Amino acid sequence: MPPPILVTGGTGTLGRHVVARLHDAGRDVRVLTRHARPGESGIEFISGDLLSGRGVDAAVAGVETIVHCASSFKGDPEAARNLVRAALRAGRPHLVYISIVGVDRIPMASPIGRTMFGYLASKLATERVVAESGLPWTTLRSTQFHDLILMVARKLARLPVVPAPAGFRFHPVDADDVAARLVEITLRTPAGRVPDIGGPRVYGAADLLRGYLGAARRRRPVVPVPVPGKGARAFHAGANLAPDHAVSGRTWEEFLADQVGDAPAGG
Ligand SMILES: NC(=O)c1ccc[n+]([C@@H]2O[C@H](COP(=O)([O-])OP(=O)(O)OC[C@H]3O[C@@H](n4cnc5c(N)ncnc54)[C@H](OP(=O)(O)O)[C@@H]3O)[C@@H](O)[C@H]2O)c1
Repeated sequence: MPPPILVTGGTGTLGRHVVARLHDAGRDVRVLTRHARPGESGIEFISGDLLSGRGVDAAVAGVETIVHCASSFKGDPEAARNLVRAALRAGRPHLVYISIVGVDRIPMASPIGRTMFGYLASKLATERVVAESGLPWTTLRSTQFHDLILMVARKLARLPVVPAPAGFRFHPVDADDVAARLVEITLRTPAGRVPDIGGPRVYGAADLLRGYLGAARRRRPVVPVPVPGKGARAFHAGANLAPDHAVSGRTWEEFLADQVGDAPAGG
């Protein structure tokens, strides 16, 4: 029996799909989570915290592969360093990391850039921790998941007028389509940076919001709002898109139909 595969963030939006797909592929899975929970057949949950280091040695013990999906708004590079240190002590497993398309193409020089896009800077710093870890590694960059766009759309739709960042386009992808690719590369040999992944279509921000409002049957005007700064200009230029690496998976309209209700045809 091959050793279990550790999935950090295996309780999250992406990680849950990764765990299910690895399990379906016949692999035992170990999930590191801050919140203890009972295991299931072939899936073990280990309580720990990547930021404090609690439980990380136990999580990596005996694994040959780690899929690192855990993330939070702050501290990702430090969390990755803790994971890497434990992994080096445990015998150099293959470290698979999920990052974001465009992290090296969005300038962060100004305070407004750092405030708006600081998370992307922390993803780039974490990519470097992985690449310089001394472990065999593979990193996949993905565009935004449908779930994230939906969460933002739901929040914005509480306003009487829905602001859409002018000139911004997004390339949403289904988290399960990303999980499928991640599992594919996890079961292969370490490959360094692999080609990016994006969804089936690119949309203007206003179109995504209108699609959501239509599916949710909510009437609200969508108003373009200019966003200043170099970071915003990089978005205008499409730094966050991966049109050459589109998957033919679930579209935004199909996702909305499943999650929200009847999406308008063609969206
Ligand atoms: N969302 C997107 O659109 C998108 C796009 C491209 C790439 N990505 C990347 O994909 C990855 C997964 O994103 P997601 O949206 O699926 O994340 P998510 O739903 O927010 O889940 C975050 C996960 O991280 C775990 N976690 C957070 N802090 C932790 C800590 N200190 N120690 C251990 N575990 C911790 C959480 O586990 P517990 O709460 O159980 O502890 C949870 O499972 C991230 O690296 C993200 O940057 C996301």
